[in-house]
Amino acid sequence: EKGGFDHFMLKEIYEQPRSIKDCMRGRIYPEEGKVQLGGIKEFAEKLKNIDRIIIVACGTSWHAGLVGEYLIEEYARIPVEVEYASEFRYRNPIITEKDVVIAISQSGETADTMAAIEMAKERGATIFGICNVAGASIPRLTHAGVYTHAGPEIGVASTKAFTAQVTVLTLMAFYMAQQKGTITTSKLIELLTELDNIPDKIQIALESNDLIKEVAEKIKDSTNCLFLGRGSGFPVALEGALKLKEISYIHAEGYPAAEMKHGPIALIDEEMPVVFIATQNSSYEKVISNIQEVKARKGKVIAIVTQGDTEVKKMADYCIEIPDANEAFLPLIATIPLQLLSYHIAVMRGCNVDQPRNLAKSVTVE
Ligand code: M6R
Repeated sequence: EKGGFDHFMLKEIYEQPRSIKDCMRGRIYPEEGKVQLGGIKEFAEKLKNIDRIIIVACGTSWHAGLVGEYLIEEYARIPVEVEYASEFRYRNPIITEKDVVIAISQSGETADTMAAIEMAKERGATIFGICNVAGASIPRLTHAGVYTHAGPEIGVASTKAFTAQVTVLTLMAFYMAQQKGTITTSKLIELLTELDNIPDKIQIALESNDLIKEVAEKIKDSTNCLFLGRGSGFPVALEGALKLKEISYIHAEGYPAAEMKHGPIALIDEEMPVVFIATQNSSYEKVISNIQEVKARKGKVIAIVTQGDTEVKKMADYCIEIPDANEAFLPLIATIPLQLLSYHIAVMRGCNVDQPRNLAKSVTVE
């Protein structure tokens, strides 16, 4: 059932070119510059007039929410707040009938996310779900929703479900932009044409597996690791750190790269590996100066870079290349090498990758 792979996690990492295609099927029309989301179609009119979107989720799904925030604000120009479901439910949040709440959950059974939905629903908000498991509790609680169609995810560490959630959020951002008129058809044609090619780029990113294994060998005995990124590279860093913690039990933290000098920089010495999302986009130059700061303190730098990069290569100890892509799609590709890195480190440390200690696939108690 592992399809020739040693673990479900690895199988699920390799499924991503296919799972993302499945997620987009019938939803994008690149030639026409159109997105169709049948699941939320009946709210198409309402989307023209909403004041705010609140995303609620836990864990990896919350990281997907942060990517969604960047995309929805950028393209649909609707203010977005991303909340941990567990915090949101126990505050007395201000929610109105003009708010849309998007609940993200792979399993569709997460207790805190369900409670957050129930509260927002009582206060009159419209609730959309982004779930992977069809017919689970969350899809039944929401007013409408979009399934991720990633297929069953067995590994406790979320991989293909995360990239499918990000794909759905990308589609939602474009759909809302289309409804609100904040994007032109020609821009949508350009973006959707590129999105359509993302599965091929993920395939290329997967081809760095052997190199990533070599890097894993070098850092597998570390006790700590930092992950840094800017813009939508920040949620990617958070997700990279969570993955490493969960399956290898190495303490890891994700930070926005610029926050480093506000504290975490004190941790840096020759023992500290720092993984940078250093692809060529709007924050490239800034990330380069953050890399210099780490190198000046003898930290070990592992950088995820754009194919053909020369600048970062001069400074980093190890570079892992990924194909170039519009910044909007960076999280979908940059996440792949981080999943593989955690996987190999965990295997080398003899950890139970598919069923890490103390964790369950669905967290049905708060
Ligand atoms: O099923 P959900 O997406 O609601 O689960 C949320 C978190 O429990 C989940 O993402 C968790 O953080 C994973 N173990 C991450 O790999």
